Amino acid sequence: MRPSSEPARATLPAEPADHALADVPADWHGLWAQIVATREGQPAPVRPRAAMHWQPDAGWCIQGPVSARSAALFDLYKPLLDARSAATATPWVVAQMGQSLDGFVATTTGDSYYVNGAHSLVHLHRLRALCDAVLVGAGTVAIDNPQLTTRRVYGANPVRVLLDPDARLDGHARALHDGQALTLWVCDALHAATARSRLGVATAAEVLPVEGLLDGMNGHEDPGAGVHRVVAALAARGLRVLFVEGGGVTVSRFFAAGVLQRLHLSVAPVLVGEGRRGLRVPARAVMADCPRPPARMVVLGDDMLWDLDLAAAPLR
Ligand SMILES: NC(=O)c1ccc[n+]([C@@H]2O[C@H](COP(=O)([O-])OP(=O)(O)OC[C@H]3O[C@@H](n4cnc5c(N)ncnc54)[C@H](OP(=O)(O)O)[C@@H]3O)[C@@H](O)[C@H]2O)c1
Repeated sequence: MRPSSEPARATLPAEPADHALADVPADWHGLWAQIVATREGQPAPVRPRAAMHWQPDAGWCIQGPVSARSAALFDLYKPLLDARSAATATPWVVAQMGQSLDGFVATTTGDSYYVNGAHSLVHLHRLRALCDAVLVGAGTVAIDNPQLTTRRVYGANPVRVLLDPDARLDGHARALHDGQALTLWVCDALHAATARSRLGVATAAEVLPVEGLLDGMNGHEDPGAGVHRVVAALAARGLRVLFVEGGGVTVSRFFAAGVLQRLHLSVAPVLVGEGRRGLRVPARAVMADCPRPPARMVVLGDDMLWDLDLAAAPLR
């Protein structure tokens, strides 16, 4: 059957894949199952010790006994949950980058397996499970050929979005053919016919043409216009809560366009020396002018996750 934009209901596994992680407390699985049920608008599949409830002025909260670690993880995902349940239909976008201590997301050859540890990978899959769609740039597709699924956690796969403005991908990417979820190959409308011809017919993917996508990226108008058009095209398909997973060029473009509400930078204790850069922001001459968004830290195994609240202090 052809995958649709609606995620399939997740089935609660007997043994969650993240059980093996040392820092996942026993009460997390009940809470996570409840979070996923909330995302799907379903009742929780297990009776939790701590129950989630919605408060109009505070969003999702938990009531009842909960371990400190589960409370910290809940706080990390709460902005996504609140965004899903918000009364407005405004798009909401979170991005991530897994980087080395010296600021690289891959080596010079593009190898990024793996920058971060297992805990950060599980976190990545949790973000996928909480969003309508996961987006990656064509560079990442060409090098990593990612599945973009939620196989490390309980939760349904999001719609997968491959951003390829001038349709340079060859059409053989795994996400375009494996049928694990709907995949949208986003390109400028000028290149839609090329993409469709490479895709063929028997596939669980669609080409999503975006009018003026290249105009919005080549400096002829606001450089953020292309990103805004992509976000609007996805919202028109009912895909509102978005997760930009990489690579560095794509995350930097979304950052520069000012559409990110949240940025998760997961810093691993590894030194790469030279390689592919992650986030790039406009340079400032004076330290006092450098953006310093509200941030909090969450330990993920050996990695340190920086959760930046860009909505609190919009940056351009
Ligand atoms: N550590 C992490 O968290 C993480 C996450 C994701 C990816 N990565 C790594 O990031 C690297 C890729 O990131 P990136 O910043 O280079 O790119 P990206 O953000 O994934 O994609 C955007 C880039 O793709 C280029 N592009 C378009 N079509 C292409 C094609 N067919 N083949 C190759 N490139 C194409 C675009 O060039 P134009 O603008 O010129 O069209 C643009 O520069 C990979 O090494 C990947 O392993 C790391």
